[in-house]
Amino acid sequence: MRVLFATAELRPLVSAGGLGEAAAGLTAALRESGVEVVTAVPDYQRWTLDGEEPLELAVPDWAAPASARVGSHLDTGPIALVDVPGIERSDPYVDGSGEGWADNDLRFGAFSAAVSALSRAVGADVVHLNDWHTALAPAFLADDAPTVLTIHNLGHQGWAGSHWLHRLPRHREAYAWGDSINALGGAIRVVDRLLAVSPHYATEIITPEGGMGLDEALASRGAALRGILNGIDTRVWDPRTDAHAPRFDSDDLEGKAVARQALLDHVGWTDTGDPLIVMVTRLVEQKGVDLAFEAARFLEGMRARLIVLGSGEARLAAWGRWLAESQPERVWFHEGYDAPVSHLLFAGGDVLLMPSRFEPCGLAQMQAMAYGTIPVVTPVGGLVDTVADADRDAAGTGFVATTTDESGVVDALHRALRAVRHHGRRRALQRRGMSRDWSWRGPAKQVVEVYGELAKGSPR
Ligand code: GLC
Repeated sequence: MRVLFATAELRPLVSAGGLGEAAAGLTAALRESGVEVVTAVPDYQRWTLDGEEPLELAVPDWAAPASARVGSHLDTGPIALVDVPGIERSDPYVDGSGEGWADNDLRFGAFSAAVSALSRAVGADVVHLNDWHTALAPAFLADDAPTVLTIHNLGHQGWAGSHWLHRLPRHREAYAWGDSINALGGAIRVVDRLLAVSPHYATEIITPEGGMGLDEALASRGAALRGILNGIDTRVWDPRTDAHAPRFDSDDLEGKAVARQALLDHVGWTDTGDPLIVMVTRLVEQKGVDLAFEAARFLEGMRARLIVLGSGEARLAAWGRWLAESQPERVWFHEGYDAPVSHLLFAGGDVLLMPSRFEPCGLAQMQAMAYGTIPVVTPVGGLVDTVADADRDAAGTGFVATTTDESGVVDALHRALRAVRHHGRRRALQRRGMSRDWSWRGPAKQVVEVYGELAKGSPR
């Protein structure tokens, strides 16, 4: 079976958030289970490929000229790098000041049109789309290749002006949303299968509270919508083989102590014995970074330290810098994303803090548990599916706030710090978190089942 997997991000080529990480992990696991996957990615940076073949793509005039270089990349396997007007940029989504590029609708609209042309060119049995950047593709697919859309985040929908309607050869009514078009909303109405990135998120998004305006469209799809939990890419995220941090496994945590010391050295602190709370996050409201920063005023009293690595909104970055300046022995903040350092945070941290307001799946909490770092999370989305609260559940692996607000987060942090200071209890939590299979193997199997239903031509 041949699948065209279209995504705006693919680690390590381009990764602004979880999408790039998830796309890399899932496509690799699909290939391992025998699916032939061609990954279609915008050619933002003119990457070099092995054995590349140029391919002209037939697209409407407004999206032309469109072409792809189809070949193989050492890190990502078979890939089609798609070139459409305006796609080449230093950052996929935003300009130097953090504002979205003004022509993002055109850039990703043209990418979506090119993806549909590419699906014919490569003879895809299934086209697997991801998020709004690819969501217009079904409007251009002439040959009815079965489609799957994974929703990684409903917070970005691809709204555009009504002049777009004339650009869509098919499904105009589905994409029309009042006086505008909604790329994700339209795709939700027309694709054959919808996947949410966790089972709990699949139940949240069909409610008015969690649907971000698309709950009715989602609910009306019934059984075509299902939740499949993301995995983590264990080629990169495995404490036994990690390329960037001291190694260890669940039977012998010696290496974790070494990693902790390396982390302290990196941030320039001497060990006071106080637990290290780590955050690896995008600096956005969704991730509850403000809740974590509010809670930072209790660090002194909690006798804990906070280490934050993140990039995103200027306001939150300024707040992080200010915290680190005013409490230099309690808070360390680095703006930016640095892959090797992020490994050190997961490996050397004691507690991972992830107080998301909503979280379709979340990968950091799984990476933390794989590395024996105890997660403190809010009760939303995939965090509910992956973290069981150790005060309520004998099989607990972390701490889940009872409410998604500052008091809930502070309470859960207190509970986690108490557990971390109790050696036996801490060890039990770590062992349970580290022994679970967080890999993409299980999730990929479920995705293959979905492809199988479609390829067999069973009712869409
Ligand atoms: C988005 C979501 C995150 C999810 C990731 C990968 O970044 O916000 O929850 O884990 O996509 O699916």
